[in-house]
Amino acid sequence: MSILKIENLNKSFYRMENNKKIKKQVLKNINLEIKKNESIGIIGNSGSGKTTIIKILFNLESADSGNIYFENQNILNIKGKKRSSVYKNMGLVMQDPYASLCPYMKVIDIISEPIKIHKIENEISKIKEYVSEILTKVHLDPKNYINKYPSELSGGERQRVAIARSIATNPSFLVLDEPTSMIDVDSKNGVLSLLNELKEKEKISIILISHDISTVLDNCDKVVVVKNGEIIEAKSCEEIKTIQDNEYTKELILASKDLTNYWEYLHKKSLKEA
Ligand SMILES: Nc1ncnc2c1ncn2[C@@H]1O[C@H](COP(=O)(O)OP(=O)(O)O)[C@@H](O)[C@H]1O
Ligand SMILES: [Mg+2]
Repeated sequence: MSILKIENLNKSFYRMENNKKIKKQVLKNINLEIKKNESIGIIGNSGSGKTTIIKILFNLESADSGNIYFENQNILNIKGKKRSSVYKNMGLVMQDPYASLCPYMKVIDIISEPIKIHKIENEISKIKEYVSEILTKVHLDPKNYINKYPSELSGGERQRVAIARSIATNPSFLVLDEPTSMIDVDSKNGVLSLLNELKEKEKISIILISHDISTVLDNCDKVVVVKNGEIIEAKSCEEIKTIQDNEYTKELILASKDLTNYWEYLHKKSLKEA
């Protein structure tokens, strides 16, 4: 059963040049489906349109055309109470854990914000208990972390707090936009194994955006390759390791496996093209 279905999504941005409006289409007919309890990795170079898909999904940017169904309900331009109940079920973690947490709020206040907004708990003592449970889920000891400010946390710990905030409303679906690109390798592995745990234990469906295909291949069920605003390949991670329909995907896989082989491949290719 599908939890999210994106159909024929298009988006253009405009800029002014010499008093002329120049159009740039950044998403071209994007189609994507995620089943319940599935994890999908979206991979592509910087500027390929990954974040724009997510911004439209979370209503932070409008679409030119297309539809997005979440649990069979069309959520593009959804308003009021319906909107609130849809977004309660969808968590979002952004790339930069230094910018995404308010420096003046303690961890308890950061995580309790969505709990208050969605009226999950109102009593202060209960909220504290609830936040402690969520911190335990992301493997941060509540005693040590609940009263800390973001400036007292490492990048990896900040990202765990951002994940805690995103799951505070008990969502069935979580999107993470390059969550490990700004943290060190150890923290990265910890965050990725936490995502796997959330998928298995909490039955959360996940979109993981990355520019690193090996991160996706090691952690997701399916992979979607985006290039210049278009999906050029979508397959199970198992299948794509051996079969790549697109030259770009082939190069990504090669580079992730063995850099010497990759350089050799590029060298031969350039000789052929010369
Ligand atoms: N608000 C905006 N105004 C104009 N152009 C934008 C805006 N947001 C993104 N873009 C452009 O859209 C393209 C896709 O950007 P983005 O979705 O952020 O890519 P990615 O996340 O894959 O790096 C880029 O060329 C970017 O410059
Ligand atoms: Mg991006």
